[in-house]
Amino acid sequence: MNRRDFTSRLAALGLTPALSRLLAIPEIGSAALAPRVDGARLNRHIAELSRFGANPQGGVTRLAYSDADRQGREYVLGLMRDAKLTPTIDAAGNIIAARPGRDGSRKPILFGSHIDSVPEGGNYDGDVGSLAAIEVAQSLGEQGITTRHPLQVVIWQNEEGGLYGSRAVSGQLTGDELQNVSRSGKTIADGIAFLGGDPQRLGPTRRNKGDIAGYLELHIEQGGTLEREHTDIGIVEGIVGIKQWEVTVTGFANHAGTTPMDQRHDALLAAARFVDAVNRTVTSIPGRQVGTVGRMQAFPGAPNVIPGQAICTLELRDLDEAKIDSLFASISAKATRIGGETGTTFAFRLLHENTPAPSDARVRALIADSARELGLTMKVMPSGAGHDAQAMATLGPMGMIFIPSIGGISHAPKEFSRPEDIVNGANVLMASLLKLDAVDWT
Ligand code: GLV
Ligand code: MN
Ligand code: MN
Repeated sequence: MNRRDFTSRLAALGLTPALSRLLAIPEIGSAALAPRVDGARLNRHIAELSRFGANPQGGVTRLAYSDADRQGREYVLGLMRDAKLTPTIDAAGNIIAARPGRDGSRKPILFGSHIDSVPEGGNYDGDVGSLAAIEVAQSLGEQGITTRHPLQVVIWQNEEGGLYGSRAVSGQLTGDELQNVSRSGKTIADGIAFLGGDPQRLGPTRRNKGDIAGYLELHIEQGGTLEREHTDIGIVEGIVGIKQWEVTVTGFANHAGTTPMDQRHDALLAAARFVDAVNRTVTSIPGRQVGTVGRMQAFPGAPNVIPGQAICTLELRDLDEAKIDSLFASISAKATRIGGETGTTFAFRLLHENTPAPSDARVRALIADSARELGLTMKVMPSGAGHDAQAMATLGPMGMIFIPSIGGISHAPKEFSRPEDIVNGANVLMASLLKLDAVDWT
């Protein structure tokens, strides 16, 4: 029963909700009174957004700074205007839509996610949290609810490439990183300009610790725990730290037919041993740490030339930054040894780092209360995926809400979350937002 149904039933009895409370009519539960989103509209918007960058496998390739990214953002800007929000694009290229609160002197509460995707990604990673945030703001407006705090719905740019938009706002983005080349082929600086930002003027977009009253993000789990355990809602206890490097292996290019096997300086052979060394190092100690070589190229890249150079990536993740650093130290020592054995050298360039972030225990409690009041089951769990929320955690109290990913599939076209789980997540987001609005922590 939604609020309107409930209110009309009370009205049929000649009672307003306030009067029924006065008369101590047994609690139907605050769930019955809690405002709800328009779930059908939200799921329709998710389907509509999936047109931009649609790939033949049923997912999307909506790389940050691509034409599809810009088209998707135009679509989102339209939804925000329909929701009676006032969107702007900040200098970092993030879309920020404000909704005034009753008390303009309060710090804003931010909530949102991202709509860029990995290559051959799915239709839910980022999209669910982004469109649910707009839906929550629209539903608040339609139900005549004005929060005490000003609200800001945020669609972060280039989450998948390394939280570029949110780290610009948290002050963690370094000037050097603006020259990193994104998957779209554009540098980060050119990409920001392509989206309508101004990479030369990032300063004013930066916010400091304490500048926000809180940050909430709804997201798909991207793993299979919630579905396997038949749990509706995940409450994120912390988000892993991520470090990514570009690894350049330098050997010597030579004729593949005339150079004897014992006289080669084969950069790709060295890189192949490196991939194995990464896997062995990461699995040699107990824990949830993960390590991946996700991309590799050989140069000059011909069947009849021994590769003189190989360039690959290295990514390490864990909730403990010290563990990431000690794994890297042991991997780079192994790389030096492999270089010695193969006549090659290894050079590492840090591409970017996302620091591990615990969520705020008080926000976790608000999310748990919200889920409970909505009659949903829940579980506290870590996030192995990176999220913009970890940059926001440096500015104020942060909380994340997960919903099930069917089959635990994500970053792939078969990524899927059930419409009813999406609606549950959006309702928990709305209830948590209202609870966060009601507290005075900052
Ligand atoms: C973002 O989705 C990441 O975890 O890489
Ligand atoms: Mn995501
Ligand atoms: Mn992702």
